[in-house]
Amino acid sequence: MYAVSAQVNDLEVVKVPLDTKGSFKLRPEAINDTLTSDPTIKIVYICSPGNPTASLISKLDLKQVLEHPTWNGVVVLDEAYIDFAPEGSSMAEWVLEWPNLVVMQTLSKAFGLAGIRLGAAFTSPAIAGLLNNLKAPYNISSPTSALACAALQPKNLAVMQSNLEKILTQRDRMLEALPVIPGVGRFLGGEDSNFLLVEILDKPRNQGGQPSNETAMVVYERLAEMKGVVVRFRGKEVGCLGCLRITVGTEKEVDKLFAEMKDVLADLMSERDVAFGDSTDSTEAIKERKANNVIA
Ligand SMILES: Cc1ncc(COP(=O)(O)O)c(C=O)c1O
Repeated sequence: MYAVSAQVNDLEVVKVPLDTKGSFKLRPEAINDTLTSDPTIKIVYICSPGNPTASLISKLDLKQVLEHPTWNGVVVLDEAYIDFAPEGSSMAEWVLEWPNLVVMQTLSKAFGLAGIRLGAAFTSPAIAGLLNNLKAPYNISSPTSALACAALQPKNLAVMQSNLEKILTQRDRMLEALPVIPGVGRFLGGEDSNFLLVEILDKPRNQGGQPSNETAMVVYERLAEMKGVVVRFRGKEVGCLGCLRITVGTEKEVDKLFAEMKDVLADLMSERDVAFGDSTDSTEAIKERKANNVIA
């Protein structure tokens, strides 16, 4: 979405991919080299936990970027999913120490209030002043403000906390049960968000299955169209070959996911040769493009 906003504003984007060898770690040296070689870069965006990686960014790696010796820009840390990560993972307090750091959070995820469109930026008085000068007057509606204030009352925070615990329990179930389904591969990334990134293989693992975008795309499509289970195809993101991003649901939804995933993959494995016989098939290519266009 940041790239889309940049494009709308006619801004250039320079991408420094995460380290795909580990669990999608930040590459602070590569970021710093990029900032050194192009001091016109004004903002660095980092997402922790990442989407779709579900990995927290290491505090030491962030510190290394903040400590860049010459670059004079702003580091924005997107913590939209931070409530699903272990306690103490947020770096919001660091804005007291680093005047060029902005930490963003939202009521859209753990609070389940995406409809009210309210987020918060924690930053230094200097940057907060700039943002206040830039924003439209009365940009937060009264209903949004009232709902947000209610959500933050102790009684409702306890509701959020209890929902969060249920989600974490279901996340553990998914971590345990998904890899047992033939055709499901490894989890990539981390376990710090309300979704998991999981590989889909062209054959069961014990038959030498390899991550496959074709298979993942067909699984994505059949789950959505035939089973009413919507996941995200993320096989075209760097380092995410064959991956689906699956959001953690309620106990009932997770039961349904297991049953339908098992069913779809069992069918696919048995009809594999027909379904993926020709990877250059234009219909398959069109379907894959469609799947790629589904954004979070
Ligand atoms: C990484 C990330 N940041 C921010 C957001 C946006 O949240 P909001 O609803 O507050 O605009 C999303 C939503 O999907 C997201 O994935």
